[in-house]
Amino acid sequence: MHAGLSLQQSPPFSVPARFLVSAPLFGLLAALVMLWHGPEMLSNRWTSELLAVTHFLTLGFLAMSMLGAMMQLMPVLMGMMIPRPVFFSGIIHAALFLGSASLGMAWLLHINALFMIAMASLLFSFSMFIMMAAERLLRTPSRHATRTLMLLALLSLAITAGLGLYLAMSYSDAAFPLARQLTSLHLSWGLLGWVGLLIMAVAYQVIPMFQITNPYPLMLQRWLGWLIFFALITLSLIQIWPLAILKTISHLLLAICLLIFALTTFWLLHTRRRQLPDLTLNFWRLAMVSLALTALIGLSLSVSGMKPPALLLGVLIIHGFAMTTVNGMMYKIMPFLIWLHLSSRNKTLRDNDQRASQIKVPHMRKIIPEAAGLWQFRAHLASLILLLLTALWPQWFFYPATVLFVIAQALLLFNLSSAVRFYRAKLAELASG
Ligand code: HEM
Repeated sequence: MHAGLSLQQSPPFSVPARFLVSAPLFGLLAALVMLWHGPEMLSNRWTSELLAVTHFLTLGFLAMSMLGAMMQLMPVLMGMMIPRPVFFSGIIHAALFLGSASLGMAWLLHINALFMIAMASLLFSFSMFIMMAAERLLRTPSRHATRTLMLLALLSLAITAGLGLYLAMSYSDAAFPLARQLTSLHLSWGLLGWVGLLIMAVAYQVIPMFQITNPYPLMLQRWLGWLIFFALITLSLIQIWPLAILKTISHLLLAICLLIFALTTFWLLHTRRRQLPDLTLNFWRLAMVSLALTALIGLSLSVSGMKPPALLLGVLIIHGFAMTTVNGMMYKIMPFLIWLHLSSRNKTLRDNDQRASQIKVPHMRKIIPEAAGLWQFRAHLASLILLLLTALWPQWFFYPATVLFVIAQALLLFNLSSAVRFYRAKLAELASG
């Protein structure tokens, strides 16, 4: 089942775990802020509460879990060694945690100094991570499309963070003019470049491996990511060279690429050889429906020239596509890591002739019980549907959507922290011999 994985390169459990468990903390924080502030926070795109919630989700939930997943997946998918993984992951995680929390709090509490702390921490965290990961990826002998896409995703993260920091300057210092024409570029590089390309990079390997599907077509693996990256560059050039036709073509290209990725993934999952029900499959399917809808809405807007309903697209892509994919992956990564680390401890005991001290390692499906994951999926799905309705009729759906969002994130936090507690209990069992 795990052919193609370099498991001996796996970093210590604490390296990815600290990122994965922190993510739903920010998800929960975002949901509680929404509940506290009420539907008025959606009165326009730029309310400080909405900007805070957006970044608790994009930085605190998404970047947090994606950095953690990369720390784990780069060694096992591409056999790369991360230097001093506990030390590096510790400082990158601490700075990202502090940066995400203080950026959101700066908007909520209107404290300029917090913007400064946020900017310094995020700059430190992202530059450390990008330099470390890019250097390793450039040196790995692997020539899989995943490597190229991860490099493009890292470049996109650097551009997103650069634009974000520039935009944040005007919030920290009133004398600095706000370059709002750059906001769309910032969020396009963030959501389509950083998040989109990284999800593709991982999907190309983990979908065929874990869902036992055919591989993605080679042409698609080779070109789709580059086309998205190219479209983002042309969108950026429009800032210097404002040609309406170039903008329409870039939007069309982006929408078509996303649609192709969503439909191909859906088809591969539909024709998979392993027909057992699987919780992560539900998450992948939901994520691909959301991505296809985002692309179709984007496509029809580019053709008709109408203005995009910002909140609807934001909910579809952030909650529907990105958070759903990450949420599903967490249910694969966390039990797998616990199983892997406990099994390798048993192996060491066997090698040292201490068979009697071995512990019973449960099946991966038992580490986070299917039923607990399924209930969390249902709450997540319901919160997505209600949040989409909120984007259209906020006064009616805001509170039910937010309550379900709180429940979904609290259940995710509970499920992940129960898995960590289970791992610690097993370690204690081992130590007591
Ligand atoms: C260093 C990290 C980041 C900083 C300092 C930052 C800062 C900012 C600032 C200051 C704005 C408001 C711009 C305005 O008022 O026009 C903004 C908007 C936005 N950012 Fe970020 N950002 C960061 C990372 C990200 C990432 C990684 C993503 C997505 C993956 C993201 C998604 C967004 C979105 C979607 C908006 C627009 C919200 C809206 O249109 O209502 N940001 N960001």
